Amino acid sequence: MDRLKGKCALVTGGSSGIGLETARQFVAEGARVAVTARSAKAFDTVRRDLGDGAVYIVSDAGDAPAQRQVAERIKEEFGKLDILFVNAGLAELKPIDMCDEAAFDRTFSINVRGPFFLIQALLPVFSKPSSVILNASINAHIGMPNTSVYGASKAALLSLARTLSGELIGRGIRVNAVSPGPIATPLYDKLGLSEADLKATATAIQSQIPAKRFGNPAEIASAIVFLASDESTFTVGSELIIDGGLGL
Ligand SMILES: NC(=O)c1ccc[n+]([C@@H]2O[C@H](COP(=O)([O-])OP(=O)(O)OC[C@H]3O[C@@H](n4cnc5c(N)ncnc54)[C@H](OP(=O)(O)O)[C@@H]3O)[C@@H](O)[C@H]2O)c1
Repeated sequence: MDRLKGKCALVTGGSSGIGLETARQFVAEGARVAVTARSAKAFDTVRRDLGDGAVYIVSDAGDAPAQRQVAERIKEEFGKLDILFVNAGLAELKPIDMCDEAAFDRTFSINVRGPFFLIQALLPVFSKPSSVILNASINAHIGMPNTSVYGASKAALLSLARTLSGELIGRGIRVNAVSPGPIATPLYDKLGLSEADLKATATAIQSQIPAKRFGNPAEIASAIVFLASDESTFTVGSELIIDGGLGL
C-alpha cells in the first residue's frame, strides 16, 4: 500500500466519481493529495474521505487564467508535483442540431483549454520524474449518437496526451491517458434527463457493453494508480481503454 509514498498529487474534479475514488486510492497508497472542485461546498463530504491532510482548492477547470493560481497553490502547499490527474470534465450530450456555440465552447473550455493551460502552468512545479494522466473517454473512438462535441473534446485530449508525451519526456514528465467506458458515477444524474429517460439511456448503453454492466470508479482509479506509480516508468504516450469492451 506504499506505491505512491512520498509523492504529491493533484486531482482536478476530485469531489465526486472517478476523481474522488482516485484521490482516495492515491491517499491509501501513501501520496499527499490536492483536489479541485468548483465550490467549497463540494468538499463538505469529501473531507470525511480524504481527511484534513488533503488540500482542497476551489477552481473552475474551464477558467484558463485561473489555472496559474492552482499551480501557485500547489507550489506553496507541496513545493513540487509528482502526479497530475486531469479529470474534471463536462458531458453535455445533445444531438448536433441542439448544440449552440456556447455549449460547444463550454465543453472545450473545461475538457481541453483549461487542462492545456493547467499543464503549462505546472511545468515549473513538476518533479523530474513526474506523471500526468489525462481522463479521456471511449466516446473519442465510437460513434455514439449525441456525443459529437463531448467525443471531439476527448479526442483532442488524447491527441494532447500523445504530443505532450513526446514534448515533455525530455523533462522527465510522462504523459498518458485513460479512456473509460460507461462508469457508474453522479455524472449521469447531471445530464438533465428525467428519471425515465435516464433509466432508458442506461439500459440502452448497458446492452451495448460486452461486459453487460457499467464499470465502477475503482476499476478506473486502480489503472490511474498504476500510471501514476513507478511501476509504469516505461509507459509513455499510451492510452489505457477500460470500457468493458464497448469499443470493440
Ligand atoms: N462516468 C463515465 O461514464 C465516464 C466515462 C468516460 C469518461 N468520464 C470522464 O471522467 C471524468 C469524471 O467524470 P465522473 O463520471 O467521475 O463525473 P462526476 O462524478 O460528475 O465528477 C465530476 C467531478 O469533476 C468536477 N468538475 C466538473 N466540472 C468542473 C469544473 N468546471 N471545474 C472543476 N471541477 C469540475 C466535479 O465537481 P463539482 O461539480 O463539485 O465542481 C466532480 O468532482 C470526466 O472528465 C468525464 O468526462 C466519465
